[in-house]
Amino acid sequence: MKADVAVIGTGVMGSNLARNLARSSGHRVAIYDRDLARAQSVATDFPEAEFIVASSPADLADKLAGPRVAILMVNAGQATDSAIADLTEVFAPGDIIVDGGNSHFQDTIARGRRLEDTSIEFAGVGISGGEVGALLGPSLMVGGSAAAWERLRPLLEPIAARAESASADDSDAVADSESPAVSGAAADPGAACVAHIGTDGAGHFVKMVHNGIEYADMQLIAEAFTLLRDGLGMAPTEIAEVFARWNDTELESYLVEITADVLAHVDAASGRPFVDIVADAAKAKGTGAWTAQAGLDLGVPVPTIAEAVFSRSLSSAADLRAEGRRLEGPRPHTDAVPADGGTVAVTTVPDGDERAARIDEIGRALLLGKVMAYVQGFHEISAGADEHGWEVDLGELASIWRAGCIIRARLLDRIVDAYGTEARAATLLADGYVRDVAGRCQDALRSTVIRAIGRGIPVPGLTSTLAYYDGLRTEAGSAALIQAQRDRFGSHTYARKDRPGVFHTLWSGDRSEVEI
Ligand code: 6PG
Repeated sequence: MKADVAVIGTGVMGSNLARNLARSSGHRVAIYDRDLARAQSVATDFPEAEFIVASSPADLADKLAGPRVAILMVNAGQATDSAIADLTEVFAPGDIIVDGGNSHFQDTIARGRRLEDTSIEFAGVGISGGEVGALLGPSLMVGGSAAAWERLRPLLEPIAARAESASADDSDAVADSESPAVSGAAADPGAACVAHIGTDGAGHFVKMVHNGIEYADMQLIAEAFTLLRDGLGMAPTEIAEVFARWNDTELESYLVEITADVLAHVDAASGRPFVDIVADAAKAKGTGAWTAQAGLDLGVPVPTIAEAVFSRSLSSAADLRAEGRRLEGPRPHTDAVPADGGTVAVTTVPDGDERAARIDEIGRALLLGKVMAYVQGFHEISAGADEHGWEVDLGELASIWRAGCIIRARLLDRIVDAYGTEARAATLLADGYVRDVAGRCQDALRSTVIRAIGRGIPVPGLTSTLAYYDGLRTEAGSAALIQAQRDRFGSHTYARKDRPGVFHTLWSGDRSEVEI
C-alpha cells in the first residue's frame, strides 16, 4: 500500500507532526530523513503510526500515491532548499511540496517561483504550537494556490487544534479572580484551526507576525514579572500565584498560563526558584526581527514588537551590560548593588490594599500592552496583504489563533468578533473592545511606566506601547516640524494643512513658498 502523505525531517517537530497525521487523519504516512537511522528509530519507537520509511528521495517518490504531498519539517534556510532540490528531481507535475518550517515569506515566494517551471505546487505553511502542538493539534496557516489548499485541506483539518473557546462579552477586571473564565455565546465551537491565508508567502508572513506578537507578549509578561519582583519585592512563587489568578481573567492566555507554571518551578539542584538560576540573556531565532524589519519596510509601526527584539539583544550584550552596570541611576531595592557603587533608591515596599492595587495596576498595564501588540500585528498583516495582493480574512486568522498556537488568548475571541462585524473595522482601534480596554487600562499603563521609570526598572515594552498609544491619540504631534526640517535642509517639500498641494520654501532665497 502506498502512503498518502510524507513528512521529510524526523526531528521532534517532524516526527510529532507525522504521528499526528497518522493518528488523526487516518492516512498512511511515509517518513524520510537524510539520517536514515533517525527515521528508522522513529518508526520503531511509534509502531502504532505504521510509518513507511523511505530510504532516499526516489524511494519516497515511489512509496507515495499521486498526486504526491510531502511536508518539509526541516530547518529554515539551506536545509529547506536542499530538501526541495531533492524532491524536485523525483516529483512530477501536480505533486505538492509543503514547507512547514519557519521560513522567511520572501524565501517562500522565491521558492514557489523557482518551482513554477516544473509544475510542482509549492505551499508555505506556518505551523505554531511547538512540539506538543505538532503532536496534539497545531494552528496551521496555509499559503499557496487555491488548488494546493483544496488538496491539503483534508490532510490538515484533522490534525489541527480545535478552538473551543467562546465569544466573551464580559469585561471583568483583570484582578478579579472570581470572574468566569468565559461567558457569552459559543463562537465556532470545535472549529479546526487551519485556514488558507492567501497565495505564495501569505502563510509564512502571518506566521512571522504571529511570532512577532509572541515576542511582544513574552516581553510584556517578563516586564510585569520584573515589576512585581523588583517593584513590589515579591518572590517568584508569589508571582506565580498572581499569574495563575490573572489567567482566570481577560488576561487568560497560553503564555500567562505557562509563566505561572515556570515561576512556581524550583530548581532541583540548587533548591532555588528556577527563574533565578536561568542566565539572564535571551536568545532568538530571528522571526521577531523579521517582523520588526517587515514593519520598517512596510512603514507600519510595530514598536512593542521591535522593542521586544531589541530587549533580547540588550540582554545578550554581555560586554555592554558589564560596562553599563556601573552607570549612575536608581536601583530597584532587590537588585544586587554593584561593589563599585551606584545609587541605591531607598523605597518602601507597599503592602495591604496598596499592594493589591499595584498588582491590579500592573495587570491592567499588561492587558493593554497585550491588546496593543495584537493591534500592531494585525495592522502589519493588513499592510502586508495589501502590498503582496493577499486577501487575508483577518477574522478567520484571529479565529485559527484561538487554539493550538503560542499566542492563543481569550482576547482573540473579541478580535474575531471585531473583524466579524458588518462594518469590518479598518483597524482594531475602531473596535469597541479595544477602546473599552484602553478606557479601563490606559491610566494603569501610564502609572506603571511612570513608577518604573522613577525606580530605574527598564520596561521598554510597556514604555513603547504607551508612546505608541499616546502617539495614536495625538492631534498635533511632532511630524510637522520634521517635515519643515526636511524641507529646510534638503528641499524635501511638505504638504500644508490649509490647502492641497506639495510645497517648498526657498530657504536660501527670499523664503517665499513655491508650489511644486
Ligand atoms: C510557535 C513558535 C515557534 C518558535 C519559537 C522559538 O509558534 O510554535 O513561535 O515557531 O520557533 O517560539 O522562537 P525564538 O527562538 O525566536 O524565540
